[in-house]
Amino acid sequence: MSTTRILVIGGAGYVGSHFTLCASNAGLRVTVMDNLSKGHRGALRGAEFFQGDLLEFEPLQAHLSRNRYHGIFHFAANCLVGESVSDPAQYYLNNVIAAFNMLEAMRYTNHDRVIFSSSCAVYGIPETLPLKEDHPKNPVSPYGRTKLAVEWMLEDYCTAYGIRSASLRYFNAAGCEPDDGLGEDHRPETHLIPNVVRYALKLQDDLVIFGNDYPTPDGTCIRDYIHVTDLAEAHLKALEKLDSLPLLRLNLGTGRGFSNLDVVKAVGNACGVSLKPEIGPRRPGDPPELVADSGEAFRVLDWRPTRSDLKSICSEVLRWFSEHPEGYAE
Ligand code: UFG
Repeated sequence: MSTTRILVIGGAGYVGSHFTLCASNAGLRVTVMDNLSKGHRGALRGAEFFQGDLLEFEPLQAHLSRNRYHGIFHFAANCLVGESVSDPAQYYLNNVIAAFNMLEAMRYTNHDRVIFSSSCAVYGIPETLPLKEDHPKNPVSPYGRTKLAVEWMLEDYCTAYGIRSASLRYFNAAGCEPDDGLGEDHRPETHLIPNVVRYALKLQDDLVIFGNDYPTPDGTCIRDYIHVTDLAEAHLKALEKLDSLPLLRLNLGTGRGFSNLDVVKAVGNACGVSLKPEIGPRRPGDPPELVADSGEAFRVLDWRPTRSDLKSICSEVLRWFSEHPEGYAE
């Protein structure tokens, strides 16, 4: 039996690199394409690699003409909500136009399976919680809109050209694989868990919690943290599922929410100190609470998160930053 070949676009980034590790451990033959604008060479694991950019159509099409992949995984996107408000052009270019190029190159070369990293940002401010897939889609940031625009493209490409796709709507990706030297290294880092951990390790001077006057029990925002390796496993299951279901849109979360102060406490407990963050103003665009109803993903994919316990996530991230205080070397 021949080995299943897959292409991972954005496989040097945070979620993409964890997926690449998981897929190669599962016996798939993985090729990573990444433009290294955000990703790190040091995060590449178990894969062939070529540097490429979805905005350069000709080389992409040439590559897909020469190689046959059973599935294409698209992780390559800009993903900061605040930045998308101040610089939407970058988001429409790198998230929408780039995805369009990928789909066109797939269409011309008869590749017909794609797994797309979508986001709970497609929903906007929740009207009901936990969020189900049929909740109205009213994204409040350009980032969320670009994700929804690609979901719509995928739906239309499925109907017209038979390209099968799974849009996986991540909640808050968290955790890492320190045994394999993989962590979370965004520059600048804007995410809560790495920032709390870096503060606890004195790798940064300040920790600000953005707002404590939200309508939540402790006044800080609530998020649903899902381990990157749980996300990765759901991607592998989604690829299999495309054989029988041509268009999937699924929430990937745990169904359990933690407040920002819960996270501060969990990191403090993991390193045995009491952390005292500053309370700052609200960060524009932050919904008070985002918690998934992932029942559909549990059922359709026969998948469950097994690594998403907040305590172990905090310990892993602490370990990775202790071992990589400067992040990846390259
Ligand atoms: N936060 C702080 N201080 C920090 C960093 C974050 O208080 O230093 C707060 C945020 O204001 C928010 C919570 O921690 O209340 C979580 O923030 P993150 O930046 O870690 O994550 P987000 O929920 O903003 O973003 C995530 C993904 C995005 C996705 C978004 C959907 O990272 O890609 O969920 O809303 F779009």
